[in-house]
Amino acid sequence: MTNLTDLLDASDIGAVFRPTGQAHGLPGRAYGAEFYALEQKRLFPRTWCAVGFASDIPDPGDAMPADLAGWPLILSRGKDGTIRAFHNICRHRAMRVLTEPCKGRNSFVCPWHAWTYDTQGKLLSTPRIAGERANDPDFDTSGLDLKPVKIGQWLDMLFVNIDGNAPDFDAHMRPLNELLSHYDFSDLRRSDEWSVTYPGNWKVSVEGAIEDYHLPWGHPQLIKGVRRSVPGLHSAANCFYANSSAREFASTPDPGTATAQNAGLRQIVSPDKDGLLRTYFMSVFPTGAFQTRTNHVLQGLFTPDGPESTKVRFVHYYPGNAASDPALSQARADLLKEWKLVFEQDVPFVRYVHENYKRRDDAGIATRAAPFWERNIHAFQKNVIDLLRD
Ligand code: FES
Ligand SMILES: [Fe+2]
Repeated sequence: MTNLTDLLDASDIGAVFRPTGQAHGLPGRAYGAEFYALEQKRLFPRTWCAVGFASDIPDPGDAMPADLAGWPLILSRGKDGTIRAFHNICRHRAMRVLTEPCKGRNSFVCPWHAWTYDTQGKLLSTPRIAGERANDPDFDTSGLDLKPVKIGQWLDMLFVNIDGNAPDFDAHMRPLNELLSHYDFSDLRRSDEWSVTYPGNWKVSVEGAIEDYHLPWGHPQLIKGVRRSVPGLHSAANCFYANSSAREFASTPDPGTATAQNAGLRQIVSPDKDGLLRTYFMSVFPTGAFQTRTNHVLQGLFTPDGPESTKVRFVHYYPGNAASDPALSQARADLLKEWKLVFEQDVPFVRYVHENYKRRDDAGIATRAAPFWERNIHAFQKNVIDLLRD
């Protein structure tokens, strides 16, 4: 089996682990197909990975297929109301049991030979396994339930741990809860959603989303009217990489963003320990994304779709009635448009950086990280290497 040291030699790894200002980024081949195959086996199964939203399957009997870097999954809210995850692999001859989202089901019927499982994964029947009979005395069906996968929920986001050996989910998420303790998420309700496909490796996509260095050139509208900004970097290995900002605007209301139009939305943030209203954008390592604003949040997924493409999906949440109040529909529409624009603006960065990763090793060019802004990118890349070690 391919190991990390088959793809990166000791000097490559050593260069990544220098202090941020002197470090080299991951080599270009870390963004290619062979490295992705190693990540599929050794990275994604080893830690908690966001794969969906509880509100995607709101009622008992609702279920949907999900994908974690090529691992096919079923997310099912059982008739008992509990959400479970299973490998979406039939115990007969490995057909995908669930190919489309479904609602109000009592069972899942595999499309190929109709083996039938209940919403808690138990194998219920094997129709016609012995001609007209559903039972065969020579065929033992015990132990052939859908194979379960460990699942955890944080706010609306569903996480799985495929190998089952990651730390307890609540302990895993504790640093993030501590970071965000000045927020009130108790009454968030789901509103709009949108998606975009990034034409690049999942790590290019995540790295582009966790630094504010590029805002003046990539998203100038996001800093328009900002008189003073107090940036921050926050991280916890295997859990999150966040950048934050506490901003004061030159005029009130903020003229440069939709804030002027969404003044009717309830504030969900309290001042942090420095007395600042701090907002965050983060990768919830490796496949989750989370963004807070003073009056709404975005919960998202950065789902690898092969080594060269990343599906990005975000859902907006507002406190209480603000998620559906008709009087605030314009404010919500403005925010939807504003956030979609930000992520569309990043598409060419992802595309061309990814393309250049294919050539830059041959050209002898290593990437660098600016310590003031990009310490989290450096830490994220070290986290990737550490998870891939034997
Ligand atoms: S593969 Fe599912 S019933 Fe045959
Ligand atoms: Fe960006």
